[in-house]
Amino acid sequence: MTYDLKGKNVLVTGASAGIGAALAEAFAARGATVGICARRADRLADVLARCRAHAPESRSWTVDLADLGALPAFARQVSDEMGGVDVLVNNAGIPKRKPVQVLTPEIVDQLMEINYQSPVHLTLALLPEITEREGRIVFVSSVAARLSPPAEAAYAATKAAISAWAECMKVDLRDTAVRIHVVYPGIIDTELFTLPDNDPAPMAIEALPVEALVGPVLDLVEQEGFEVSVPDWFPDVYAGKYRDVEAFLEGTIAYVRTQEAEGTGVT
Ligand SMILES: NC(=O)c1ccc[n+]([C@@H]2O[C@H](COP(=O)([O-])OP(=O)(O)OC[C@H]3O[C@@H](n4cnc5c(N)ncnc54)[C@H](OP(=O)(O)O)[C@@H]3O)[C@@H](O)[C@H]2O)c1
Repeated sequence: MTYDLKGKNVLVTGASAGIGAALAEAFAARGATVGICARRADRLADVLARCRAHAPESRSWTVDLADLGALPAFARQVSDEMGGVDVLVNNAGIPKRKPVQVLTPEIVDQLMEINYQSPVHLTLALLPEITEREGRIVFVSSVAARLSPPAEAAYAATKAAISAWAECMKVDLRDTAVRIHVVYPGIIDTELFTLPDNDPAPMAIEALPVEALVGPVLDLVEQEGFEVSVPDWFPDVYAGKYRDVEAFLEGTIAYVRTQEAEGTGVT
């Protein structure tokens, strides 16, 4: 089975930068009309111009997706202006690289709002229409959802939550033509690693350019797979963890201690 993106309407959240911007342009290049949204209007305008080079009907909305109460109206507006949504790409997200000792409930709630509640609310608002149109829903999770990384409890928990949501959606939608896809980026070179109020990222592996993610995500949607990790060796690491979670966590602690002793910056 394959899914033809040509002529489809694709909404990509968090498309003013990084992964979302690259995916929006790639979907447009496949012949889809894209709708893009984020908070920074100037950055969206640049991305929209690149999308319109392929798909002239593409459009953008400046929106704060953390405003959960406004999401149903936003979903209606997008649907009205695009003439329906076939594919929703829940990509917008923020990091939080801080150890639990300095986290506050407010920080944890803010992360959960933007990384979990917001994509879930948007998904629920668009689900009847996407079901009717036999569409697709993509969730951009993170390898952090599965790896228990140091100083990322708040972030990793939001990504584990969205992955669990996506997995359960697939089961519940079993008798529909809707397909659910989950993307697990490793370290992709974006602004996510330079945002304020975050500790330095533990660059244990080389950061990949966003282009390394785009092909696998297009393949995932077009070939109707369920999930993809980039780099593609991460599933071996997940498998090792789930064979013995405690041993995996002890290994992580030992690794962090080594890094601390060497002063190489893993928090
Ligand atoms: N880069 C990686 O290595 C990596 C690894 C694992 C997972 N991920 C996930 O990949 C997704 C994209 O991240 P990225 O690396 O491309 O980061 P990025 O370059 O910082 O892009 C994040 C995007 O989300 C948007 N966004 C953030 N908060 C928003 C809000 N309240 N309302 C609307 N839009 C909002 C940002 O736009 P504005 O600032 O203009 O609003 C931006 O377009 C995220 O879900 C992230 O968790 C990334």
